[in-house]
Amino acid sequence: MRVNGCDYRTVWMEGSTVHMIEQNLLPFDFSIVELPDHAATARAIAEMTVRGAGAIGAAAGFAMAQGFIEQKESASLPHAAKAAILATRPTAQNLFYAVERVWKAGCEGGADGAVAEARAIADADAEASCRIGKFGSKLIGNRANILTHCNAGWLAFVDFGTALSPIYHAHRDGKSPHVWVDETRPRGQGARLTAWELTQAGIPHDIIADNAAAHFMARGEVDIVIVGADRIAANGDTANKIGTLEKAICANHFGIPFYIAAPIATIDAACPDGNAIPIEARSSDEVLWQQGVDAEGKRHTIRVASPGASARNPAFDVTPAALISGIITEQGIIDAASAGAIATNHKE
Ligand code: MRU
Repeated sequence: MRVNGCDYRTVWMEGSTVHMIEQNLLPFDFSIVELPDHAATARAIAEMTVRGAGAIGAAAGFAMAQGFIEQKESASLPHAAKAAILATRPTAQNLFYAVERVWKAGCEGGADGAVAEARAIADADAEASCRIGKFGSKLIGNRANILTHCNAGWLAFVDFGTALSPIYHAHRDGKSPHVWVDETRPRGQGARLTAWELTQAGIPHDIIADNAAAHFMARGEVDIVIVGADRIAANGDTANKIGTLEKAICANHFGIPFYIAAPIATIDAACPDGNAIPIEARSSDEVLWQQGVDAEGKRHTIRVASPGASARNPAFDVTPAALISGIITEQGIIDAASAGAIATNHKE
């Protein structure tokens, strides 16, 4: 995607150094961080310098490749690096998928094999996202109002994104889409990242408070909901950013189509249903405190909750397959219930 006249991916590798867009500084500053070793890359995943299932997966693959590079002169395998990378974020299936693939390639082909596999995973993620856009854009009518939650745009993947990819394609096809952007408390991925992406692309949108979606649905101002996914169980139950379940229930109530957009790498065929998906619990500080800039652009962290109050901060929730109209994948739009079978039969 183009930023300031240059083409960027969210994460990439040059030599043994991983490069990524520093997403914690967006939308106020655009900068690239360089991570020299697997420990630095793993820390960047945990601290959400890179976030979003596909981008996390690509970064984790590159981190695993760095682990093999670091062990190049030794006879032992990078077990500690693998464990450290796997411990960064528990919900995004793409992370586990990528680490396993790069691990296998590194065991068979050494550091060069690991790097080649990590690059292939990143390229496949970008390619899948592009194809998801082509399939998904068929669901978007002329002048459609699309509601999305969190950020499943190109920042959440290597390029193109999933939930936003059909919107980018529809916009290029001249369909004039408009997007309702849920702000997505507590970290504000919608208000910060999705809104920034759509501004870059020149696509009309409005940020709405997380609790405003049902209001716009009730007034007939939402034609379709498209969101991403962090892990899809074999039966189609889908974990996505906290607040997604509520949007699915509302969409179902008002008879509005509710689609998940995700690559097949996000399906965990070994996970039978949503109850088995691990849900990340993040720091309560993310609820109690917010970060932003003042009128002069100076960055501040301020408390937004009653002093002394405690908070809970689950990062994801699970939408049952029954509420999902379909999953937009790189192979086409599938029934949620067939997710496990499709992932099992999928060949790289
Ligand atoms: O906590 P994050 O920002 O890594 O959350 C992941 C997400 O971006 C969303 O849940 C998104 O909708 C899924 S698409 C990668």
